[in-house]
Amino acid sequence: MTLPRVFVTRRIPEEGLRLLQAQCAVDLWTEPLPPPRAALLQRARGAHGLLTMLTDRVDEPVLDAAGAQLRVVSNFAVGYDNIDVEAATRRKVPVGHTPGVLTETTADLAFALLLAAARRLVEADSFVRAGGWRTWDPTGLLGVDIHGAALGIIGFGRIGRAVARRALGFGMRVLYHSRTMPHPRQFAGCTPVPLDTLLSEADFISLHTPLTGETRGLIDAAAFERMKPSAVLVNTARGAVVDSQALYAALRSGRIFAAALDVTEPEPLPADSPLLQLDNLIVTPHIGSASRAARGRMARMAAENLLAGLRGDPLPHCVNPQVYASA
Ligand code: DGY
Repeated sequence: MTLPRVFVTRRIPEEGLRLLQAQCAVDLWTEPLPPPRAALLQRARGAHGLLTMLTDRVDEPVLDAAGAQLRVVSNFAVGYDNIDVEAATRRKVPVGHTPGVLTETTADLAFALLLAAARRLVEADSFVRAGGWRTWDPTGLLGVDIHGAALGIIGFGRIGRAVARRALGFGMRVLYHSRTMPHPRQFAGCTPVPLDTLLSEADFISLHTPLTGETRGLIDAAAFERMKPSAVLVNTARGAVVDSQALYAALRSGRIFAAALDVTEPEPLPADSPLLQLDNLIVTPHIGSASRAARGRMARMAAENLLAGLRGDPLPHCVNPQVYASA
């Protein structure tokens, strides 16, 4: 029996890889960097399934290169803005993703960034290592309080709500704004507000929206103008939700207090990015879901989506279920 051929665009945790290797002919990209465009197009050719990363642009040319026998695209991420889902749907190719299994892990990182930016932890650590700690300083490295502050959450899906739970435990007040307003459910301690109210009243703003036409550049110069000078912005969603130039201007001029980004535009940030010159900015390299357990769960879920698609079964976690509607 010939096994279906799948192209896996990066080495994923064993939990998922083993599942695939037992049932498919796996073509695994083992380089530390993602496949360049030409390699992606070439290795997609003739594949029955693609297991892709958020660093791979899966668009018409890739789907065309794969050809008519392509049965499934499984993204190793909950977000899928790297995939032209409409193009996949037109070809009746189901697209899988990994919701739920990274929620708490990503919320942990968002909260860690919030705490670190508020209390200037990275700056303080660098200060000590550089030999700056000569005595206790009554006015040195002053940050902003977290307890009693208002956290504004933009995007109140699974991850946004998980961040809200953490904030309530820290004695914060939670405001939120989401696509569906008012949110059909009530969340104790969390108040739905219009976006402008959130921007002007929140002491901390944490972003949890998917990247769409509507949210691209949502946090622009006008949004920074509305924020408090003591505001801290945290982004663990997608870099392009924030206008990078406006962010630089806001941080540089002290229009806001600080920011912490796990995602940037572009990604990675070039080493000479002016953002990296700022002391009031923390940047981490898109590690929201990077715990061993969460990445293992993502690998398994991505593999299960892929295998279901290869069998012709509905994907357990499908972003375009309309592919299953009969014509
Ligand atoms: C996702 O899943 O979309 C994250 O950005 C990476 O885990």
